[in-house]
Amino acid sequence: MTEPTTIPVEAADYRTAMARIASAVHLVTTAGPGGRAGFTATAVCSVSDEPPTLLVCINRTASAHAALSVNDTLCVNTLGAHQMDVAGAFGGRTPMDERFATASWGRLVTGSPVLNNARVAFDCRIVGRHAVATHDVLVCEVVALACAGTGDGLLYADRRYHAPPLQAPARDDAA
Ligand SMILES: Cc1cc2nc3c(=O)[nH]c(=O)nc-3n(C[C@H](O)[C@H](O)[C@H](O)COP(=O)(O)O)c2cc1C
Repeated sequence: MTEPTTIPVEAADYRTAMARIASAVHLVTTAGPGGRAGFTATAVCSVSDEPPTLLVCINRTASAHAALSVNDTLCVNTLGAHQMDVAGAFGGRTPMDERFATASWGRLVTGSPVLNNARVAFDCRIVGRHAVATHDVLVCEVVALACAGTGDGLLYADRRYHAPPLQAPARDDAA
């Protein structure tokens, strides 16, 4: 059996450990006085349903950070298995206009770009910002939803994308 790792934990070891966790893949998008911007994110987490609240963690070095520190709204667009190319475009180093040209967009309530055919989209108002280490943690209140997307979800694990078929709903869960 592997011996437990003792502290101190190195940053590279922490990243390797986190890479073992399979995560949903999202595009976090924004538009407003700070400009239009978006990035691929796995650091998205639900907080509460009263009121519906989620967290987004963004590295302060990301090119989308400037827009997200001015705009008070964003949309979390959760990707389906067929949207791996869009995830790649928003995953860094591509100019913003080129990122947005890879897909078609609509809007809900806040005016943030909503990815057409996202598995689910959470349109949000940013209600809190907390600087933690290298990242800003954005606390977001969800003001509108779109659940139009069909098909399997996109996952990221072991530093690559996966599109595993989702299990059919259990008989009791079937609507
Ligand atoms: C699968 C995946 C997940 C990512 N998750 C996050 C995240 O949660 N937060 C974050 O700040 N950057 C995340 N990134 C990195 C950003 O998408 C982006 O590449 C980085 O901010 C640099 O982009 P830039 O060239 O626009 O500055 C992720 C990248 C990938 C490919």
